[in-house]
Amino acid sequence: MSAPRGTIWELKPHSLGKHLVLRKYLDAWLPILGQTQDQIVFVDGFAGPGEYEGGEEGSPILALRAFLNHPARSRITAAVKFVFVEKDPRRKARLEELVKPLKARLPLGSDVEVVCDAFDKAMATRLDHLDGAGKSQAPCFWMVDPFGVKDTPMDLIARILAPEKSEVYISVMYESINRFDEELSRHLDSLYGCRDWRVCAQIGDRDERTRCFFELYKRQLKNAGAQQVIHFDLYEGRRHKYSIFHASRHHLASDRMKAAIWNATLGGDFVFRGGQTDQLELGVDQPNFEPLRRALRDTFGGRGWVRIEDVKEFVMSDRTDYHETQLRKKALIPMEDAGEILVKSSQGRRDTEQTSLPGFLEEYTAGRRSARRYPSGTELQIL
Ligand SMILES: C[S@@+](CC[C@H](N)C(=O)[O-])C[C@H]1O[C@@H](n2cnc3c(N)ncnc32)[C@H](O)[C@@H]1O
Repeated sequence: MSAPRGTIWELKPHSLGKHLVLRKYLDAWLPILGQTQDQIVFVDGFAGPGEYEGGEEGSPILALRAFLNHPARSRITAAVKFVFVEKDPRRKARLEELVKPLKARLPLGSDVEVVCDAFDKAMATRLDHLDGAGKSQAPCFWMVDPFGVKDTPMDLIARILAPEKSEVYISVMYESINRFDEELSRHLDSLYGCRDWRVCAQIGDRDERTRCFFELYKRQLKNAGAQQVIHFDLYEGRRHKYSIFHASRHHLASDRMKAAIWNATLGGDFVFRGGQTDQLELGVDQPNFEPLRRALRDTFGGRGWVRIEDVKEFVMSDRTDYHETQLRKKALIPMEDAGEILVKSSQGRRDTEQTSLPGFLEEYTAGRRSARRYPSGTELQIL
């Protein structure tokens, strides 16, 4: 897809998917950090004009409203700073107009800044100033949403990922990684921070090639300091539209991002597919949870008693495509019913309920089964 030339353009359904995920994630991020930090920052590095042809909101406006209209806003005590970077002066001017009335509603201490500059240049300069003054960065969510793969150098991503509580949400339009001419090669060297992508470019099979490009990007994000990197692909029918990468230093961040992706109801012919579990499709009527149960067996099976906290951390991490809220009902209860796990709480070993009892007893037992909990202190043995 070529980049639009006008100040505003039509919102494509796949971009709407990106916005749904962003909104759901910010709904979690704002109160988590907003109640424990003095200041938090949201940077939209490729902000756009703030609206689309049909009047739909762009990502910067969506982020401002996520804060202003948050149901827990009164409990968000941090000063929330928004920095929107847009290189095109006409788009920046439009964005400023849209921001003005919302800026007036921000609580004391919170603020919005709209910058007309190139993301990499502007942010590198700011980080240099902070470093020069010996100051540290406040916890920051960075949205990096370019057209194509330009101007998102890995050395800058490494700098923005340096603080403990910073995270980056990057959308990659895979379609723009084709025709490996000199110009694209330069951009890819910068995107990856290495020249190894050339090995991927040699691979004939399209799916293999795509996997190679994405695995390398994940590896480079980890080399840049991320502890957790999750990756999901958005498809329209069989067509791969774009990929989302989320890099952070904590499994709680990747868990909340996975929950946001799972809970974004896209409709139409659109689905997200997990980057860990080939063909895992989200947004379908009956998602498949067998890969989650298999991952638990593969990781913990035969290891004796393991703490529920360790199992949860595993599910929350970038080693699965699932999130913690799914663990109990979609994995532990069915596995306990099938005799695949043993459960020990502070009161001792739990007996597995019989699964087929007639009439009332069956209903009674089913009710008890679905109410089953695995509180902290529980230990599991996955057989
Ligand atoms: C994909 S659009 C952003 C859409 C927006 N994030 C949203 O979801 O509503 C990319 C925007 O980045 C701007 N842009 C392109 N190169 C840039 C750069 N190097 N730095 C900052 N902005 C840039 C473009 O003018 C365009 O408005």
